[in-house]
Amino acid sequence: MTKQIKPSARYQQLIAQINWHNERYYKFDSPSISDYEYDQLMQEVLVLENQNPDWQDSDSPSQRVGSQPLAEFTQIAHELPMLSLSNGFKSDDIFDFDRRLHKQLDQQPDVVFEYVAEPKLDGLAVSIMYRNGILAYAATRGDGKIGEDITQNVKTIHSIPLRIENAPEQLEVRGEVFISHAGFERLNETQKAKDKKTFVNPRNAAAGSLRQLDSKITANRPLDIYIYSVGVISDSLFASTHYEMLQRLAGLGFPVCPLIEVVQGAQDCIDYYASLSGRRAQLEYEIDGIVYKLNRLDWQSQAGFIAKAPRWAMAHKFPAQEKSTKIKEIDVQVGRTGAITPVARLEPLFVGGVTVSNVTLHNSSEVKRLGVRVGDTVIVRRAGDVIPQIVSVDLERRPNTSRAYEFPQICPICDSAVVFEGEGIIARCSGGLICPAQRKQAIKHFVARKAMDIDGMGDRIVDSLVDLGLLNNVADLYKLEYHQILELEGFAEKSAQNLLTAIEQSKRTEFAKFLYALGISQVGETTAEQLANSFINMNELMQADEEFLQTLSDIGPIVASSIVAFLTDDNNRAVIQALHEMGIRYPEITPIKEMDNAELPLANTTIVLTGSLQSLTRGEAKKKLQALGAKVAGSVSAKTDIVVVGADAGNKATKAEQLGIKIIDEDELQAILA
Ligand code: IVH
Repeated sequence: MTKQIKPSARYQQLIAQINWHNERYYKFDSPSISDYEYDQLMQEVLVLENQNPDWQDSDSPSQRVGSQPLAEFTQIAHELPMLSLSNGFKSDDIFDFDRRLHKQLDQQPDVVFEYVAEPKLDGLAVSIMYRNGILAYAATRGDGKIGEDITQNVKTIHSIPLRIENAPEQLEVRGEVFISHAGFERLNETQKAKDKKTFVNPRNAAAGSLRQLDSKITANRPLDIYIYSVGVISDSLFASTHYEMLQRLAGLGFPVCPLIEVVQGAQDCIDYYASLSGRRAQLEYEIDGIVYKLNRLDWQSQAGFIAKAPRWAMAHKFPAQEKSTKIKEIDVQVGRTGAITPVARLEPLFVGGVTVSNVTLHNSSEVKRLGVRVGDTVIVRRAGDVIPQIVSVDLERRPNTSRAYEFPQICPICDSAVVFEGEGIIARCSGGLICPAQRKQAIKHFVARKAMDIDGMGDRIVDSLVDLGLLNNVADLYKLEYHQILELEGFAEKSAQNLLTAIEQSKRTEFAKFLYALGISQVGETTAEQLANSFINMNELMQADEEFLQTLSDIGPIVASSIVAFLTDDNNRAVIQALHEMGIRYPEITPIKEMDNAELPLANTTIVLTGSLQSLTRGEAKKKLQALGAKVAGSVSAKTDIVVVGADAGNKATKAEQLGIKIIDEDELQAILA
């Protein structure tokens, strides 16, 4: 007689069984049961979990099949920033990197550094956090500081363990999610068979799959991952070298790329690069270079970070791909501030993993420099995420019918005169907001995430609303009615309502974002913040003259004159007033005036803050430094005395280094503020 086992015991038994079969299938590629039998086991688990919702085990295979679709991704702040890598392209860059590191670490040139050479996978970086051995959450890299919560999607990747044994209490692993060549082919065939859009390259397919709101769709995508580093880790003795850390991660069950090798010195790095370049076409997945990482972790921390990248690692990129194609036409695009940019329309070509049909020619002087004519055959280059560019014209293939390009003297969109600035190089449509192209761009800028952040107001919707005459300026956004949105293509009742809600919610904003949203020429995010820190509200700012604006750090004559020109323009003033009447509001914070008190400890000291600080925000640091008499500037110049470099710092840190300016870190900053 068979013994009746308790359902909870049966549940545990099923989980262990299915996980074992999963491993056979996904890791060893040798299934030992049929798909039918597997589905039966899975069904049984799903039924038991349905009947007993509190049973669900952290290791249950049911988590791999996706869950309820999300309405949107929530954001996750990375505990440690996710950095990128500095790039090198030639052997000399690698020797320089090695030499620099020797200097930074105070080592004699004859000391051979040990590096770990890793393929640079062409996918997307993710962070996966384990707490007490259980996968707690996973996030995209985002801007390096804040990513999106893609936990459900990452759980569908079979090679990622849902639970790990004997792990540090807190362990964040980081790695690259990608799709193999074979997976990509299969996926596109399935998409075609279902009459769905195919993906242009494996990287885009991986990105599209990982950023799916419906994780059930992700579960059917052939995503893979290799882990290449750790983020937060509660065990400071986890490993003493990078390679040992990778081995320990592999021991915990994480997939680590088997091609990774320990090499000695820069020359070995280059040899590894050469050997892998030769095998690149045979690899099962796309790589776009090699990453070298200093093996010793104590030396890594000693070397630290510069700009957005660690000093102890470097990406040695494979050369950009170049191909030739024909220019069908050259026409222009009109931007937000009326800038007219010539664009070459190409016979589409597949280069560097994407299809390129348009390439910017930047300005009339670039057109001249290249000597490009309509009908020409040109060489187009594209590497990684870099925008495609025309490198040269193939004069031997120039047809008799080729035609010189004439820059338009009137705007092709609104017929206003084109004016030329900057020694005739920069062309601008003089139509201002009369020009529908400028209006569209101005509105797209206004609604963008960093500006008023109207979620769901995409480019296509703005284009239609302007074309329909419903949006003549940004204030009209707040007059839109439900039925007008509902009538747009692609809208249903719920989505129309959502967009209206997003418009309404955007009214509650911050002064800096509002200022940035207005799209004043020369006023980017940093200047907008600077203005918001110096004026209580729009009314006060509108009263400032150029002379006064120039007393603020970082505002020179050009920016000051652009701000005054914008804010004294009658049309702009009317729009700003209308926006306030529509209910735009922001907290009014009394700014701390910049002090110039010779008695204060930091009087006559100019400090630049860059990168993110852990213990306080940059704004707070700035206020504290100003209270001590310092002048806090936004950009590094010869006048700068000190640069405070936080994590993920930008090129300001590099510039400071070049100018030999004193660089301090957050601890030293704290010491000054204490
Ligand atoms: S290490 C602080 N290792 O390359 C070190 N990155 O350009 C940060 N990538 O965002 C990354 N393969 O998405 C590292 N073996 C590898 C990599 C790798 C691909 C990607 C990663 C990162 C980007 C930096």
